[in-house]
Amino acid sequence: MTHPFIQAFFDEPTNTISYLVGDPGSRTAAVIDPVLDFDMASGVADTRSAKRIVAFARDHDWHIAMVLETHAHADHLSAAPYIKARTGAWTGIGAHIRDVQKIFRPVFAMDDLRTDGSDFDRLFDDGDRFLIGELEVEVLHVPGHTPADVAYVIGDAALVGDTLFMPDYGTARADFPGGDARTLYRSIRRLLALPDATRLFLCHDYKAPGRDDYRWETTVGEQRRSSVHVHDGVSEDEFVAMREQRDAGLSVPKLLLPSIQVNIRAGYFEQAEANGVTYLRIPVKWKED
Ligand SMILES: [Fe+2]
Repeated sequence: MTHPFIQAFFDEPTNTISYLVGDPGSRTAAVIDPVLDFDMASGVADTRSAKRIVAFARDHDWHIAMVLETHAHADHLSAAPYIKARTGAWTGIGAHIRDVQKIFRPVFAMDDLRTDGSDFDRLFDDGDRFLIGELEVEVLHVPGHTPADVAYVIGDAALVGDTLFMPDYGTARADFPGGDARTLYRSIRRLLALPDATRLFLCHDYKAPGRDDYRWETTVGEQRRSSVHVHDGVSEDEFVAMREQRDAGLSVPKLLLPSIQVNIRAGYFEQAEANGVTYLRIPVKWKED
């Protein structure tokens, strides 16, 4: 079983983990889920987190050949355009991003948004395979959190995006438009059918109650034995009831509106206005009495 090199980069403001996954033989690497730093209050965007990944690659002799997204994130903006511009990497995401684009295009009245996924260089279907150098990647379509989530299975590792979190914390929410708890359960059971020793790398960590450090690596076996939401023996109906009840009490992610409108465009902002300034859209909804 191949054992890819995996370096994690944790972004505390958004609790996101980006990864550099490398083939030690060819020194070729993929960057997965890179974060663009964005301060909503001031509108300031900043590439320092992405620069850190590019600098790490340069310092350790990794050639970044691709930027992969596990889904259109709702809690951070993607830095894929910056990494693509700096390295020439191609970008990829699950083919169901087209569904997500169709859901949100009218929400933001983004009349210029193409909903055929062509802002990304490659779209992956379930079971697709491609190479990072000599390392084979298998794509699993794991919807539920969103319709377009994919996991990347690479040798003895799987980058699972927003499906599973650490066993003491549980699973991703399933209440975004196009999300579905029952679908998420089925996707997770698929991931948990991988060999027990498979290393799972997560997209987020929020520190479970009683834990004082961030963690993002676990295994299939650990999840099956001890996940608070989906250990072996939890039925689909039990999971759905728990997930829906929990989601009803969750607040909206701070960067939801900017993240979605930028990430469904592969991380690109809308074209600047005539004054050279780029703007984001916030649909205003009046609270009902
Ligand atoms: Fe997400």
